[in-house]
Amino acid sequence: MTEEILTMTNLHVTIQAKKHPALPIIKGIDLHIPKGKVVGIVGESGSGKSIAMKSLMDILPDNAHATFDQFLFAGQAVTDAQKIPLAMIFQDPMTSLNPLRTIGYHLVEVILRHQKISKKQAQQRAIEELEKVGIPLPEKRMKQFPHELSGGMRQRVMIAMALLAQPQLLIADEPTTALDVTIQAQILALMKELQTSESLSVILVTHDFGVVAGMCDFVNVMYQGRIVEKGTVEEIFYQAQHPYTKQLLAAAHLGDRDAPLRTVNADSYADEQVVKKELSATHHVWLKEGNE
Ligand SMILES: Nc1ncnc2c1ncn2[C@@H]1O[C@H](COP(=O)(O)OP(=O)(O)OP(=O)(O)O)[C@@H](O)[C@H]1O
Ligand SMILES: [Mg+2]
Repeated sequence: MTEEILTMTNLHVTIQAKKHPALPIIKGIDLHIPKGKVVGIVGESGSGKSIAMKSLMDILPDNAHATFDQFLFAGQAVTDAQKIPLAMIFQDPMTSLNPLRTIGYHLVEVILRHQKISKKQAQQRAIEELEKVGIPLPEKRMKQFPHELSGGMRQRVMIAMALLAQPQLLIADEPTTALDVTIQAQILALMKELQTSESLSVILVTHDFGVVAGMCDFVNVMYQGRIVEKGTVEEIFYQAQHPYTKQLLAAAHLGDRDAPLRTVNADSYADEQVVKKELSATHHVWLKEGNE
């Protein structure tokens, strides 16, 4: 069996909005992330991708409540999710950067949190890391503020910060959605290169099947708080079984990549009995009874 860097089983998340009953957002999903691989999580807006990722990092909003059966990292039971070697990059780097602090400040802070070295050494380390993620004139960038950098540069800084935390697992939640197409491609190429050279395990949340094809080994398709199909990229691209997966693929093939993913079949899976079919060791699909 493949070694897993992260395992979480039967994750449920509910959100309590004011004066309303608690709303189920994640309805019992299992995440199995193999070591050194890239797992894509695909699904329409609101399907619970970000909430699932935040559950792993224990950074859910205050009104959310998560339960699960099992949470393992590198085979060990996790007692404090904040302490596992895991880093996350988000869609909008500005939300994670302090506008009043220089790029250098951000990087040095991460380094000093993870390594016992002097401030001067940390600054040198930061410059090297900026070089590694393809930022020209790193000494100059160190002294600049986040707003002085382009979106693509800021995302490179976020990647540098994530790597400096020495993670074994990197979670990237729509890391390139806010960037234009050429910059997107450059950032993805950088991520792929670093993933290989550092043998990182990666969870990549995206709504773009083109990105999945270029980056991922495995795909989990999420729909309304559940995983409805999972498999290798080939299994999902060539042998999709779930109507929702087929619909996502059809939309991607039309070149409709930026269109929001919407459901044609609006009826809910929420209270239906779903049947799990195992088509191979890796290809599993959860079909509503009566679906082909
Ligand atoms: N703080 C919150 N309070 C109330 N509801 C929330 C909160 N955060 C998320 N939700 C709800 O949880 C559901 C899942 O949200 P989530 O952000 O995980 O979706 P997503 O799949 O990441 O979507 P997107 O592709 O748009 O990023 C949505 O219905 C959303 O409205
Ligand atoms: Mg999201």
